[in-house]
Amino acid sequence: MELPDAPRINPSILAADFVNMQRDLAKIAAADFAHVDVMDNHFVPNLTFGPQMVERIQATSPIPLDVHLMITDPDRWAPGYAELGVASVTFHLEAAADPISLARQLRGIGARAGVAIKPDTPADGLYSVLDEFDQILVMTVEPGFGGQGFMAETMPKLRALADEAKRRGSTVWLQVDGGISDATIEQAAAAGADTFVAGSAIYGADDVEAAVTRLRDRARAASLES
Ligand code: DX5
Ligand code: ZN
Repeated sequence: MELPDAPRINPSILAADFVNMQRDLAKIAAADFAHVDVMDNHFVPNLTFGPQMVERIQATSPIPLDVHLMITDPDRWAPGYAELGVASVTFHLEAAADPISLARQLRGIGARAGVAIKPDTPADGLYSVLDEFDQILVMTVEPGFGGQGFMAETMPKLRALADEAKRRGSTVWLQVDGGISDATIEQAAAAGADTFVAGSAIYGADDVEAAVTRLRDRARAASLES
């Protein structure tokens, strides 16, 4: 698969209409990846969908899937998502028993391997193992729900991670997720994010396609300036 250049915009279908998923997937054809939030009502206090639904979303989506697993025991469940043929599978560092071997397993199946950290989880434990991952997701809200406010206090951690990745010559993608909008995307881009998940800011807009383009333009301008 040819990979899109930064800045990448990944609309979160958590903000789509679940009974009009085909229609809402068609609206994001010009974005980079469809971000799919899998929640198990255990790792987070919310429930979305499992592999059967993800398989149908994948068959219907005009763009590849970026699966974000907010689940307990990803060591057991994440490989099954990779086997569906999705572009990337991101699991939470806090939930994984053996993140490195899980990432290797995901890559072995053919998915990009991602690791996510909650706002209070430090990133420095990942510095020496950046090469094991294709993307690192710095959560900019507490995982579980769309429509929350962006936590600017996560930006120093993102910046430190971006500096470290640069210092080590790493090609890992740095993703942010939660509260990304016209008002916040520039600070995340300036802090070093290259991949942006947005749910309510995209699906809440009157013109979804224009919202994607605007977010991408803003992120590009801010990363060039910084
Ligand atoms: C939150 C999810 C996000 C969510 C983002 O737990 O991981 O992907 O959909 O939604 P917004 O952009 O509305 O904060
Ligand atoms: Zn997400």
